[in-house]
Amino acid sequence: MNKTQTNKSKSFEVTITDIGAQGDGIANRLGKRYYIPYSAPGDQLLVSPGAERKEGRSAKIETIITGGNDRVAPRCGHFQICGGCALQHLSISAISRSKRDFIVTALARRGLSDVVVLDTINIAAGSRRRVRFAAKKLARRVLLGFRAPRGRNIIDIQECPAVRPSIIALVEPLRVLVRKLESLGNAASISITESESGLDILLQPERPAELTLPDREKIAQFANFNDLARIAWDDPRGPEPVSQRREPLFRFGTSRIRPPVGAFLQPSVEGERAILDAIVKALREPRQIADLYAGCGTLSFPLSSIAPTHAFEGDGAMVATIRRGATRNELTANERDLDKMPLTPRELTPFDTVVFDPPRAGAKSQAAMLAESTVGCVIAVSCNPATLARDLRLLVDGGYEIESVLPVDQFPWSPHVEAVAILRRNTM
Ligand SMILES: C[S@@+](CC[C@H](N)C(=O)[O-])C[C@H]1O[C@@H](n2cnc3c(N)ncnc32)[C@H](O)[C@@H]1O
Repeated sequence: MNKTQTNKSKSFEVTITDIGAQGDGIANRLGKRYYIPYSAPGDQLLVSPGAERKEGRSAKIETIITGGNDRVAPRCGHFQICGGCALQHLSISAISRSKRDFIVTALARRGLSDVVVLDTINIAAGSRRRVRFAAKKLARRVLLGFRAPRGRNIIDIQECPAVRPSIIALVEPLRVLVRKLESLGNAASISITESESGLDILLQPERPAELTLPDREKIAQFANFNDLARIAWDDPRGPEPVSQRREPLFRFGTSRIRPPVGAFLQPSVEGERAILDAIVKALREPRQIADLYAGCGTLSFPLSSIAPTHAFEGDGAMVATIRRGATRNELTANERDLDKMPLTPRELTPFDTVVFDPPRAGAKSQAAMLAESTVGCVIAVSCNPATLARDLRLLVDGGYEIESVLPVDQFPWSPHVEAVAILRRNTM
């Protein structure tokens, strides 16, 4: 008897109660918690047990006995094979509720149980403007797509309803290009961003390589034929634009910005707008704003038309981008590693409003400094509920009150969620 048959013979029935932070359905049985991918709340399932996990055990659906009310037909033919999405089998309202729950749960784990967590703002599928594809040359064809769930295999995609149509339209031409480029070797990553002036592409061979002259010509022809804005090669000395027919442009507020190759940008225009709207709504006639972990100034530029804004960012190329785009004195940009050298309470004194938007690891050191500051309004933007909750705990312990937390689902069908938390210093 093989292992699969052994596990099947141990199948048992469960009912799904919730969706966990990694997108798996959760069921409890005989005091044990099971995590079941692609299950929906209310599902009655026959499942077979899988590997032990930190807080329970994974299990696999053998049969859906009765589907829960939130079960819907997935939109994409690659669903469950491709690792890009985990939640396409859930209704939008179930996804919204689950993402809000992820935040509520993360806050509760830090003892922040009475926080006002608003209803999730949903960003429509098809709006994702940034992707990183994996590509691999086989004997007769090129695989190009996302990785399989929990695996290294590349799923060769024909469609992706999560992503902007202009990006998906380029998948087939890219397969042909990858086949032709010898410098790319057998495996590569391809990052694509949709800008206002066209697609911006970065080719990254898995093994660093010099780009040959014939390959340069093929890339230039490809860029012309497909009317690309820019296509760059990840040279060992740094990304090199091979063909730039137009500068990739992004509009932040009223400014048009030209980010460097590979710069951070919010995954969708609509998500970016939802985050900004939440921040602007929270402002109360600010006099001096600090925008920490500012990237290329997504938030700094629009904020600077409300009050003088000082951006702080660790990446020198992004700081330079802000400086180039800042045409008025209302915006300054400073290069600074905010994890190693957070702004101190003294340095924070001039600011009545601070926005911080760190990477997934959060802003522990900076939050600790803010907790000791006199800043009146702190706005935390985060793509990781666990580190957000840790940072908010520090702020609450330092005398801040959390006014509200807004979940923004700008990663449709993935288990990720963005959040905007508004805090004010308790003056009592
Ligand atoms: C989630 S992005 C947010 C960027 C920007 N607020 C936006 O909306 O586009 C986080 C930013 O933090 C920057 N960053 C990462 N580690 C940093 C550090 N230790 N100090 C300062 N900035 C850092 C990254 O370069 C990135 O631009």
